[in-house]
Amino acid sequence: MTLDVAARFLDDIRPAARNAPPSGIVEVHLEGLRRPGTAKLWVGEGNLPTPANIRDAAVRSLMAGETFYTHQAGLPELREALCRYHDRLYGPFGGRPADVDRFLVTASGMHAIQMAASLVAGSGDEVIVPTPAWPNAPAAAALCGAAVREVPMRFGPAGWDLDPDDLEAAITPRTRAIFVNSPSNPSGWVASRDRLASILGIARRHGVWIVADEVYGRFCYLDGQAVAPSFHEVAEPEDRLIFVNTFSKNWAMTGWRIGWIEVPAALNATVQNLVQYTSSGTAVFMQRAAVEALDNGEDFLAFQIARARHNRATVIAALAAAGGVTLSPPDGAFYLFFSVEGESDPRRLCLDMVREAGVGIAPGTAFGRGGERFMRLCFAGDPEEITAALGRLPAWLAARRRAAGGG
Ligand SMILES: Cc1ncc(COP(=O)(O)O)c(C=O)c1O
Repeated sequence: MTLDVAARFLDDIRPAARNAPPSGIVEVHLEGLRRPGTAKLWVGEGNLPTPANIRDAAVRSLMAGETFYTHQAGLPELREALCRYHDRLYGPFGGRPADVDRFLVTASGMHAIQMAASLVAGSGDEVIVPTPAWPNAPAAAALCGAAVREVPMRFGPAGWDLDPDDLEAAITPRTRAIFVNSPSNPSGWVASRDRLASILGIARRHGVWIVADEVYGRFCYLDGQAVAPSFHEVAEPEDRLIFVNTFSKNWAMTGWRIGWIEVPAALNATVQNLVQYTSSGTAVFMQRAAVEALDNGEDFLAFQIARARHNRATVIAALAAAGGVTLSPPDGAFYLFFSVEGESDPRRLCLDMVREAGVGIAPGTAFGRGGERFMRLCFAGDPEEITAALGRLPAWLAARRRAAGGG
Protein backbone atom coordinates (compact mmCIF):
# COMPACT_ATOMS: atom_id res chain seq x y z
CA MET A 1 0.00 0.00 0.00
CA THR A 2 1.41 3.41 -0.90
CA LEU A 3 1.95 6.02 1.77
CA ASP A 4 -0.77 8.33 0.45
CA VAL A 5 -3.35 5.50 0.45
CA ALA A 6 -2.40 4.66 4.06
CA ALA A 7 -2.66 8.36 4.95
CA ARG A 8 -6.11 8.54 3.35
CA PHE A 9 -7.37 5.61 5.42
CA LEU A 10 -5.99 7.21 8.55
CA ASP A 11 -7.64 10.52 7.63
CA ASP A 12 -10.94 8.71 7.22
CA ILE A 13 -11.20 7.27 10.74
CA ARG A 14 -12.17 8.98 14.01
CA PRO A 15 -9.36 11.16 15.39
CA ALA A 16 -9.81 9.53 18.82
CA ALA A 17 -8.98 6.13 17.29
CA ARG A 18 -6.20 7.48 15.09
CA ASN A 19 -4.57 9.24 18.01
CA ALA A 20 -4.74 6.32 20.46
CA PRO A 21 -1.13 6.10 21.66
CA PRO A 22 0.92 2.93 21.27
CA SER A 23 1.80 1.36 24.60
CA GLY A 24 5.16 2.67 25.81
CA ILE A 25 6.05 -0.82 27.02
CA VAL A 26 5.93 -2.51 23.63
CA GLU A 27 9.41 -1.45 22.49
CA VAL A 28 11.15 -3.17 25.42
CA HIS A 29 8.77 -6.13 25.10
CA LEU A 30 9.81 -6.66 21.46
CA GLU A 31 13.51 -6.36 22.28
CA GLY A 32 13.08 -8.85 25.14
CA LEU A 33 11.22 -11.40 23.00
CA ARG A 34 14.07 -11.32 20.47
CA ARG A 35 16.52 -12.39 23.19
CA PRO A 36 15.96 -15.82 24.73
CA GLY A 37 16.78 -15.85 28.43
CA THR A 38 15.64 -12.26 29.03
CA ALA A 39 14.02 -11.73 32.44
CA LYS A 40 10.53 -10.54 31.52
CA LEU A 41 9.99 -8.04 34.30
CA TRP A 42 8.16 -5.52 32.10
CA VAL A 43 4.84 -7.32 32.11
CA GLY A 44 2.23 -7.27 34.91
CA GLU A 45 1.93 -10.97 35.64
CA GLY A 46 3.71 -13.83 37.36
CA ASN A 47 4.93 -17.11 35.87
CA LEU A 48 2.50 -19.54 37.53
CA PRO A 49 -0.36 -21.05 35.55
CA THR A 50 -3.89 -20.79 36.93
CA PRO A 51 -4.35 -23.29 39.80
CA ALA A 52 -5.62 -26.73 38.81
CA ASN A 53 -8.93 -26.53 40.72
CA ILE A 54 -9.85 -23.41 38.73
CA ARG A 55 -8.83 -24.91 35.39
CA ASP A 56 -10.72 -28.10 36.25
CA ALA A 57 -13.92 -26.15 36.81
CA ALA A 58 -13.62 -24.74 33.28
CA VAL A 59 -12.90 -28.17 31.81
CA ARG A 60 -15.88 -29.72 33.58
CA SER A 61 -18.14 -27.01 32.20
CA LEU A 62 -16.81 -27.43 28.66
CA MET A 63 -17.18 -31.20 28.80
CA ALA A 64 -20.74 -30.76 30.06
CA GLY A 65 -21.43 -28.86 26.84
CA GLU A 66 -21.80 -25.38 28.31
CA THR A 67 -20.91 -23.74 25.03
CA PHE A 68 -23.90 -21.47 24.37
CA TYR A 69 -24.72 -17.79 24.62
CA THR A 70 -25.32 -16.77 28.21
CA HIS A 71 -26.64 -14.04 30.53
CA GLN A 72 -25.29 -10.66 29.45
CA ALA A 73 -24.91 -9.60 33.11
CA GLY A 74 -23.00 -12.78 33.88
CA LEU A 75 -24.08 -16.10 35.42
CA PRO A 76 -26.27 -15.56 38.50
CA GLU A 77 -24.00 -18.05 40.36
CA LEU A 78 -20.94 -15.93 39.62
CA ARG A 79 -22.63 -12.68 40.61
CA GLU A 80 -23.71 -14.35 43.88
CA ALA A 81 -20.13 -15.54 44.42
CA LEU A 82 -18.93 -11.95 43.88
CA CYS A 83 -21.34 -10.82 46.62
CA ARG A 84 -19.99 -13.47 49.03
CA TYR A 85 -16.42 -12.43 48.19
CA HIS A 86 -17.10 -8.73 48.81
CA ASP A 87 -18.95 -9.39 52.06
CA ARG A 88 -16.05 -11.54 53.26
CA LEU A 89 -13.44 -8.96 52.28
CA TYR A 90 -15.03 -5.67 53.26
CA GLY A 91 -18.08 -6.49 55.36
CA PRO A 92 -21.38 -4.73 54.71
CA PHE A 93 -21.29 -1.86 52.18
CA GLY A 94 -23.17 1.08 53.67
CA GLY A 95 -24.48 -1.28 56.38
CA ARG A 96 -26.01 -3.69 53.87
CA PRO A 97 -24.89 -7.07 52.46
CA ALA A 98 -23.62 -6.91 48.88
CA ASP A 99 -26.42 -6.46 46.35
CA VAL A 100 -26.21 -8.83 43.39
CA ASP A 101 -27.68 -6.18 41.08
CA ARG A 102 -24.54 -4.09 41.54
CA PHE A 103 -22.29 -6.74 39.95
CA LEU A 104 -21.81 -7.63 36.30
CA VAL A 105 -19.26 -9.93 34.72
CA THR A 106 -16.91 -8.48 32.11
CA ALA A 107 -14.50 -9.84 29.54
CA SER A 108 -11.45 -8.67 31.59
CA GLY A 109 -10.57 -5.80 33.89
CA MET A 110 -9.78 -3.79 30.78
CA HIS A 111 -13.31 -4.39 29.49
CA ALA A 112 -14.67 -3.14 32.82
CA ILE A 113 -12.55 0.01 32.42
CA GLN A 114 -13.74 0.46 28.87
CA MET A 115 -17.38 0.24 30.02
CA ALA A 116 -16.76 2.58 32.96
CA ALA A 117 -15.24 5.05 30.52
CA SER A 118 -18.16 4.79 28.13
CA LEU A 119 -20.55 5.47 31.05
CA VAL A 120 -18.90 8.72 32.10
CA ALA A 121 -16.45 9.99 29.49
CA GLY A 122 -17.87 11.34 26.24
CA SER A 123 -16.84 14.02 23.84
CA GLY A 124 -16.64 17.41 25.58
CA ASP A 125 -16.08 15.76 28.98
CA GLU A 126 -12.94 15.73 31.05
CA VAL A 127 -11.68 12.93 33.25
CA ILE A 128 -8.96 13.26 35.83
CA VAL A 129 -6.20 10.69 36.12
CA PRO A 130 -3.58 10.94 38.87
CA THR A 131 -0.24 9.94 37.32
CA PRO A 132 1.96 7.95 37.08
CA ALA A 133 -0.82 5.58 36.03
CA TRP A 134 -1.33 2.42 34.02
CA PRO A 135 -1.87 3.97 30.58
CA ASN A 136 -4.88 1.88 29.51
CA ALA A 137 -7.43 3.71 31.66
CA PRO A 138 -6.71 7.21 30.31
CA ALA A 139 -6.42 5.72 26.81
CA ALA A 140 -9.91 4.16 27.17
CA ALA A 141 -11.37 7.52 28.24
CA ALA A 142 -9.66 9.27 25.34
CA LEU A 143 -11.02 6.66 22.91
CA CYS A 144 -14.51 7.56 24.12
CA GLY A 145 -13.75 11.15 23.15
CA ALA A 146 -13.05 12.64 26.59
CA ALA A 147 -10.11 14.90 27.40
CA VAL A 148 -7.78 13.46 30.03
CA ARG A 149 -6.34 15.79 32.67
CA GLU A 150 -3.36 14.31 34.43
CA VAL A 151 -2.70 15.25 38.02
CA PRO A 152 0.94 14.39 38.77
CA MET A 153 1.28 12.75 42.16
CA ARG A 154 3.99 13.96 44.52
CA PHE A 155 7.07 11.90 45.26
CA GLY A 156 8.84 12.62 48.55
CA PRO A 157 10.74 10.86 51.32
CA ALA A 158 7.51 9.14 52.42
CA GLY A 159 6.87 7.86 48.88
CA TRP A 160 4.13 8.75 46.42
CA ASP A 161 0.92 10.50 47.37
CA LEU A 162 -1.96 12.31 45.76
CA ASP A 163 -2.41 15.81 47.14
CA PRO A 164 -6.18 16.41 47.47
CA ASP A 165 -5.62 20.13 46.73
CA ASP A 166 -3.93 19.24 43.42
CA LEU A 167 -6.87 16.98 42.63
CA GLU A 168 -9.51 19.56 43.44
CA ALA A 169 -7.64 22.27 41.51
CA ALA A 170 -7.87 20.10 38.37
CA ILE A 171 -11.68 19.94 38.47
CA THR A 172 -13.48 22.10 35.93
CA PRO A 173 -17.17 22.39 35.01
CA ARG A 174 -16.52 19.72 32.34
CA THR A 175 -15.08 17.14 34.74
CA ARG A 176 -17.16 13.96 34.85
CA ALA A 177 -14.92 11.47 36.62
CA ILE A 178 -11.80 10.84 38.64
CA PHE A 179 -9.97 7.56 37.95
CA VAL A 180 -8.33 6.26 41.11
CA ASN A 181 -6.07 3.22 41.04
CA SER A 182 -5.00 2.08 44.51
CA PRO A 183 -2.84 0.04 45.04
CA SER A 184 -1.22 1.69 42.06
CA ASN A 185 0.33 0.26 38.98
CA PRO A 186 3.11 1.44 38.56
CA SER A 187 4.06 3.26 41.78
CA GLY A 188 2.85 0.84 44.47
CA TRP A 189 1.09 3.76 46.20
CA VAL A 190 -1.71 2.66 48.51
CA ALA A 191 -4.23 5.35 49.40
CA SER A 192 -4.95 5.45 53.13
CA ARG A 193 -8.55 5.31 54.25
CA ASP A 194 -8.32 9.04 55.02
CA ARG A 195 -7.02 9.78 51.54
CA LEU A 196 -9.88 7.77 49.98
CA ALA A 197 -12.34 9.67 52.16
CA SER A 198 -10.91 13.02 51.04
CA ILE A 199 -11.07 11.98 47.36
CA LEU A 200 -14.67 10.88 47.89
CA GLY A 201 -15.42 14.20 49.58
CA ILE A 202 -14.11 16.09 46.54
CA ALA A 203 -16.13 13.89 44.17
CA ARG A 204 -19.28 14.44 46.23
CA ARG A 205 -18.77 18.21 46.42
CA HIS A 206 -18.37 18.50 42.66
CA GLY A 207 -20.89 15.83 41.67
CA VAL A 208 -18.37 13.76 39.70
CA TRP A 209 -17.90 10.00 39.41
CA ILE A 210 -15.07 7.98 40.86
CA VAL A 211 -13.86 5.03 38.82
CA ALA A 212 -12.09 2.91 41.44
CA ASP A 213 -9.59 0.41 40.09
CA GLU A 214 -8.78 -1.86 43.04
CA VAL A 215 -7.44 -4.82 41.06
CA TYR A 216 -4.34 -5.03 43.30
CA GLY A 217 -6.29 -4.65 46.57
CA ARG A 218 -5.18 -8.05 47.85
CA PHE A 219 -1.48 -7.26 47.38
CA CYS A 220 -0.88 -4.99 50.36
CA TYR A 221 2.37 -4.88 52.37
CA LEU A 222 1.36 -2.35 55.03
CA ASP A 223 1.81 -3.63 58.58
CA GLY A 224 -1.37 -5.14 59.98
CA GLN A 225 -3.28 -4.43 56.79
CA ALA A 226 -3.98 -7.63 54.83
CA VAL A 227 -6.21 -5.90 52.28
CA ALA A 228 -5.64 -2.38 50.94
CA PRO A 229 -8.16 0.27 52.00
CA SER A 230 -11.11 0.34 49.61
CA PHE A 231 -13.77 2.84 48.68
CA HIS A 232 -16.13 0.13 49.96
CA GLU A 233 -15.03 1.15 53.45
CA VAL A 234 -15.67 4.88 53.14
CA ALA A 235 -18.49 5.23 50.61
CA GLU A 236 -22.20 4.39 50.40
CA PRO A 237 -23.93 2.36 47.67
CA GLU A 238 -25.64 5.64 46.67
CA ASP A 239 -22.33 7.31 45.78
CA ARG A 240 -21.33 7.94 42.18
CA LEU A 241 -18.84 5.12 42.27
CA ILE A 242 -17.86 2.48 39.72
CA PHE A 243 -15.49 -0.30 40.70
CA VAL A 244 -13.49 -2.18 38.07
CA ASN A 245 -11.81 -5.45 38.92
CA THR A 246 -10.37 -8.64 37.45
CA PHE A 247 -9.55 -12.30 38.07
CA SER A 248 -6.22 -11.78 36.30
CA LYS A 249 -3.93 -10.87 39.17
CA ASN A 250 -5.28 -12.70 42.25
CA TRP A 251 -5.69 -16.09 40.63
CA ALA A 252 -3.06 -15.99 37.85
CA MET A 253 -5.74 -15.72 35.16
CA THR A 254 -4.28 -12.97 32.94
CA GLY A 255 -4.79 -15.00 29.76
CA TRP A 256 -8.43 -15.83 30.46
CA ARG A 257 -9.82 -12.31 30.03
CA ILE A 258 -12.49 -12.18 32.71
CA GLY A 259 -13.26 -9.50 35.28
CA TRP A 260 -16.15 -7.64 36.85
CA ILE A 261 -17.67 -4.20 37.23
CA GLU A 262 -19.65 -2.92 40.22
CA VAL A 263 -22.07 -0.05 39.66
CA PRO A 264 -25.08 1.45 41.47
CA ALA A 265 -27.89 -1.11 41.01
CA ALA A 266 -29.91 1.48 39.07
CA LEU A 267 -27.35 1.22 36.26
CA ASN A 268 -27.53 -2.56 35.95
CA ALA A 269 -29.73 -2.59 32.85
CA THR A 270 -27.66 0.13 31.16
CA VAL A 271 -24.42 -1.75 31.76
CA GLN A 272 -26.05 -4.94 30.46
CA ASN A 273 -26.68 -3.04 27.23
CA LEU A 274 -23.04 -1.99 27.08
CA VAL A 275 -21.99 -5.62 27.60
CA GLN A 276 -24.36 -6.67 24.81
CA TYR A 277 -22.84 -4.19 22.37
CA THR A 278 -19.22 -4.90 23.25
CA SER A 279 -18.56 -8.54 24.21
CA SER A 280 -22.17 -9.87 24.39
CA GLY A 281 -21.14 -11.80 27.49
CA THR A 282 -18.34 -13.97 28.81
CA ALA A 283 -17.99 -17.70 28.08
CA VAL A 284 -19.85 -19.86 30.60
CA PHE A 285 -16.89 -22.20 31.19
CA MET A 286 -14.76 -19.23 32.19
CA GLN A 287 -17.43 -18.03 34.57
CA ARG A 288 -17.61 -21.48 36.23
CA ALA A 289 -13.85 -21.23 36.76
CA ALA A 290 -14.29 -17.74 38.20
CA VAL A 291 -16.79 -19.05 40.79
CA GLU A 292 -14.21 -21.64 41.83
CA ALA A 293 -11.55 -18.91 42.11
CA LEU A 294 -13.72 -16.78 44.39
CA ASP A 295 -14.96 -19.64 46.58
CA ASN A 296 -11.85 -21.84 46.71
CA GLY A 297 -8.95 -19.65 45.64
CA GLU A 298 -7.75 -18.20 48.94
CA ASP A 299 -4.89 -20.68 49.52
CA PHE A 300 -3.38 -19.97 46.13
CA LEU A 301 -3.83 -16.25 46.61
CA ALA A 302 -2.11 -16.38 50.02
CA PHE A 303 0.80 -18.20 48.34
CA GLN A 304 1.01 -15.55 45.60
CA ILE A 305 0.97 -12.71 48.10
CA ALA A 306 3.69 -14.32 50.24
CA ARG A 307 5.80 -14.84 47.12
CA ALA A 308 5.36 -11.22 46.03
CA ARG A 309 6.30 -10.04 49.52
CA HIS A 310 9.47 -12.16 49.38
CA ASN A 311 10.36 -10.89 45.88
CA ARG A 312 9.70 -7.32 46.95
CA ALA A 313 12.40 -7.64 49.63
CA THR A 314 14.80 -9.17 47.05
CA VAL A 315 14.41 -6.35 44.52
CA ILE A 316 14.59 -3.58 47.12
CA ALA A 317 17.79 -5.04 48.60
CA ALA A 318 19.41 -5.55 45.18
CA LEU A 319 18.69 -2.01 43.99
CA ALA A 320 19.82 -0.52 47.30
CA ALA A 321 23.09 -2.44 46.85
CA ALA A 322 23.47 -1.01 43.34
CA GLY A 323 23.66 2.55 44.74
CA GLY A 324 22.45 5.71 43.01
CA VAL A 325 18.91 4.36 42.88
CA THR A 326 15.91 6.32 44.16
CA LEU A 327 12.85 4.33 45.17
CA SER A 328 10.12 4.15 47.71
CA PRO A 329 9.25 0.61 48.85
CA PRO A 330 5.84 -0.10 47.33
CA ASP A 331 3.02 -0.50 49.87
CA GLY A 332 0.94 -2.52 47.43
CA ALA A 333 0.60 -4.14 43.96
CA PHE A 334 3.69 -5.93 42.63
CA TYR A 335 5.79 -3.30 40.95
CA LEU A 336 8.90 -1.41 41.97
CA PHE A 337 9.09 2.10 40.50
CA PHE A 338 12.59 3.52 40.67
CA SER A 339 14.95 6.01 39.07
CA VAL A 340 18.70 5.89 38.56
CA GLU A 341 20.89 8.89 39.31
CA GLY A 342 22.36 10.52 36.20
CA GLU A 343 19.92 8.72 33.88
CA SER A 344 17.49 11.18 32.37
CA ASP A 345 16.27 8.97 29.51
CA PRO A 346 14.59 5.84 30.94
CA ARG A 347 13.60 4.61 27.50
CA ARG A 348 17.29 4.48 26.52
CA LEU A 349 18.21 2.91 29.86
CA CYS A 350 15.52 0.22 29.53
CA LEU A 351 16.57 -0.64 25.96
CA ASP A 352 20.26 -0.87 26.94
CA MET A 353 19.35 -2.95 29.99
CA VAL A 354 17.38 -5.50 28.04
CA ARG A 355 20.09 -5.78 25.37
CA GLU A 356 23.13 -5.83 27.62
CA ALA A 357 21.96 -7.21 30.98
CA GLY A 358 19.07 -9.38 29.78
CA VAL A 359 16.68 -7.65 32.17
CA GLY A 360 13.48 -6.26 30.65
CA ILE A 361 11.63 -3.52 32.54
CA ALA A 362 9.23 -0.76 31.50
CA PRO A 363 10.18 2.92 31.09
CA GLY A 364 8.30 5.38 33.31
CA THR A 365 7.49 7.49 30.25
CA ALA A 366 4.77 4.89 29.56
CA PHE A 367 2.85 5.99 32.67
CA GLY A 368 2.23 9.69 32.11
CA ARG A 369 3.48 12.80 33.84
CA GLY A 370 5.36 12.67 37.11
CA GLY A 371 7.13 9.37 36.57
CA GLU A 372 9.12 10.16 33.43
CA ARG A 373 12.50 9.57 35.07
CA PHE A 374 11.40 6.29 36.62
CA MET A 375 11.27 2.67 35.54
CA ARG A 376 8.83 -0.08 36.48
CA LEU A 377 9.91 -3.57 37.41
CA CYS A 378 7.33 -6.30 38.05
CA PHE A 379 8.19 -8.64 40.92
CA ALA A 380 5.27 -11.08 40.67
CA GLY A 381 7.34 -13.79 38.97
CA ASP A 382 9.63 -16.68 39.79
CA PRO A 383 11.85 -15.83 42.82
CA GLU A 384 14.86 -17.57 41.26
CA GLU A 385 14.57 -15.68 37.98
CA ILE A 386 14.14 -12.42 39.87
CA THR A 387 17.13 -13.07 42.11
CA ALA A 388 19.27 -13.96 39.09
CA ALA A 389 18.13 -10.92 37.09
CA LEU A 390 18.59 -8.49 39.96
CA GLY A 391 22.00 -10.07 40.67
CA ARG A 392 23.16 -8.87 37.25
CA LEU A 393 22.01 -5.28 37.71
CA PRO A 394 24.44 -3.75 40.27
CA ALA A 395 27.54 -4.67 38.20
CA TRP A 396 25.87 -3.57 34.97
CA LEU A 397 24.81 -0.22 36.44
CA ALA A 398 28.27 0.33 37.95
CA ALA A 399 29.92 -0.37 34.58
CA ARG A 400 27.52 2.03 32.92
CA ARG A 401 28.34 4.73 35.48
CA ARG A 402 32.08 4.21 34.90
CA ALA A 403 31.60 4.39 31.13
CA ALA A 404 29.72 7.68 31.57
CA GLY A 405 32.65 8.99 33.63
CA GLY A 406 30.70 8.90 36.87
CA GLY A 407 33.29 6.76 38.76
C1 LIG B 1 -4.22 -1.09 37.25
C2 LIG B 1 -4.78 -2.14 36.37
N1 LIG B 1 -6.10 -2.18 36.15
C3 LIG B 1 -6.68 -3.09 35.36
C4 LIG B 1 -5.91 -4.06 34.74
C5 LIG B 1 -6.64 -5.01 33.82
O1 LIG B 1 -6.44 -6.33 33.96
P1 LIG B 1 -7.01 -7.38 32.91
O2 LIG B 1 -7.46 -6.67 31.70
O3 LIG B 1 -5.88 -8.32 32.65
O4 LIG B 1 -8.13 -8.07 33.57
C6 LIG B 1 -4.51 -4.06 34.92
C7 LIG B 1 -3.65 -5.03 34.22
O5 LIG B 1 -2.45 -4.92 34.19
C8 LIG B 1 -3.94 -3.09 35.76
O6 LIG B 1 -2.63 -3.03 35.99
